[in-house]
Amino acid sequence: MIDTTILHISPTDPDPEAIRQSAEVLRRGGLVAFPTETVYGLGADVLNLDAVRKVFEAKGRPPDNPLIVHIATSKQLDDIVDEIPEQGKLLANAFWPGPLTLVMKRTILISDLVTANLDTVAVRMPNHPVPLAMIQALGEGIVGPSANLSGRPSPTTGQHVYDDLRGRVDLILDAGPTAIGLESTVVDVTVEPPTILRLGGLTKERIEELIGTVGVGAGRGFEKRSPGTRHRHYAPRAKVFLAKSGDADAFAALLQVQRQLGKKVGCIVNSPLLAKLESGDYYRVLPSSLDILARHLFRTLRELDGLGLDVIIVEGVEEQGLGATIMDRLRRAAEV
Ligand code: TXA
Ligand code: MG
Repeated sequence: MIDTTILHISPTDPDPEAIRQSAEVLRRGGLVAFPTETVYGLGADVLNLDAVRKVFEAKGRPPDNPLIVHIATSKQLDDIVDEIPEQGKLLANAFWPGPLTLVMKRTILISDLVTANLDTVAVRMPNHPVPLAMIQALGEGIVGPSANLSGRPSPTTGQHVYDDLRGRVDLILDAGPTAIGLESTVVDVTVEPPTILRLGGLTKERIEELIGTVGVGAGRGFEKRSPGTRHRHYAPRAKVFLAKSGDADAFAALLQVQRQLGKKVGCIVNSPLLAKLESGDYYRVLPSSLDILARHLFRTLRELDGLGLDVIIVEGVEEQGLGATIMDRLRRAAEV
């Protein structure tokens, strides 16, 4: 067990002294949880292998699931990736800093531990003043998986990080709730056409507007290229059922069956039809606007899960734009 310190920090104008302190913790091999525009990350100096090892330990993360390297300037890419494919450059120019992670060929400076023995490395420049300043102060990249226990929903507040990682992380920089609430989109640009390995905060549609049709990972060989998809994810302790968007009859039937089985049931709905259906202590209505829904989704899953429910029924959304990412996360949460 280590002493976990929580430091509140402004998301727009971070206190330089707090930044200096957090870079110091990283420099001596400690772990710092930090906010980003997507979800909170668990940071360690990418070149300090003891620290990187501690990240896997703290999260209980399987060693075959590689980490994203976070950078603050494009210059820092030189030490991390061997070459930046043309389409990678286009994407980075358009969407960095932002919720986009690019998978590229790695240099020998990047350890096998970070990449889980792959010959590629995932890199992202977060759109948040706190990690940008911290990485600048450290002077090199940091690894940054989501700061949750492996398998749990990603943390969107400092409190979530504390709930999962208390005693396992030196410092939590708490800058309030994150803006997007879902993780970054992971795109492999070493292949033609580039392929989305994980849907995320940047939509497929916006990527395709810029570089044309991209692949979306699935099928044979994919799990090897995107190890994260192999593992159980985003799962609350309660059993999650995914209900079809806007289908009040099916929803009511599912709810009734679970209640008849004696289950303590919570619900997360978003369409006006289902919002009207019922209320009660365990009924949460989210806005149907996708970006606002995304921002509150993991928080609401965690909140309901904290109430000791047996079952959480979540209404789905249309699978477009951010809706595709939301459905991806809900399906994984509902996997047994
Ligand atoms: O928004 C985010 O991406 C957050 C914040 C903190 O930046 N980070 C995050 O990291 O979600 P993590 O470790 O929870 O998810 C990283 C994903 C995993 O699915 C992992 O398998 C994949 O990226 N990944 C990492 N390196 C890879 C590589 N070289 N090739 C393919 N996939 C890789
Ligand atoms: Mg994660």
